[in-house]
Amino acid sequence: MSKILVAYFSASGVTAEVAKRMAKAVDADLYEIQPEQPYSKADVNWKNPLARCNKEWFLKKDVPAAGKIENFADYDLVLFGFPIWFGCAPVVVSNFAAKHDFTGKKVGLFATSISSKMGKTAEKFKPFLNGKGEIAGDRRIFPEDSDETIAEWVKSL
Ligand SMILES: Cc1cc2nc3c(=O)[nH]c(=O)nc-3n(C[C@H](O)[C@H](O)[C@H](O)COP(=O)(O)O)c2cc1C
Repeated sequence: MSKILVAYFSASGVTAEVAKRMAKAVDADLYEIQPEQPYSKADVNWKNPLARCNKEWFLKKDVPAAGKIENFADYDLVLFGFPIWFGCAPVVVSNFAAKHDFTGKKVGLFATSISSKMGKTAEKFKPFLNGKGEIAGDRRIFPEDSDETIAEWVKSL
């Protein structure tokens, strides 16, 4: 049986909830991605033009990720979950991915958002796999999606 990892970033809990349900539904390990400097609630208040999340995006700042998965080689399928930020994956998530070796692995991307679809998220994420691995699928997940729907998507990858 293939070994699955769900690695997620979540600023306000929506993606976290989906990621936890996904991991449970497909018997995957779960890992929370965090920036080196954790976000406060004020940092991710995107309605405030001066909030950290907006400054980082509009000033094209790098957002280093904390930590690394030591037993990454054990996984066959890695699922990255995140909120859509400015139409794609938050910088911290792609930076976290880039720390790992995706040789021989399949990757799935899932996201929550208010209205954005996945769009070019996968295309923009791909360079961070450093030419290795394969993005087998990407999907917007809704909190109201059933565990069965979520598990079916994972199994389709
Ligand atoms: C900095 C920032 C940028 C966002 N950009 C978008 C966006 O481009 N499109 C969208 O539909 N939602 C956007 N959102 C809303 C989140 O994607 C949405 O609320 C998500 O479900 C939150 O997930 P979380 O609770 O796991 O952080 C943004 C939120 C933040 C904080």
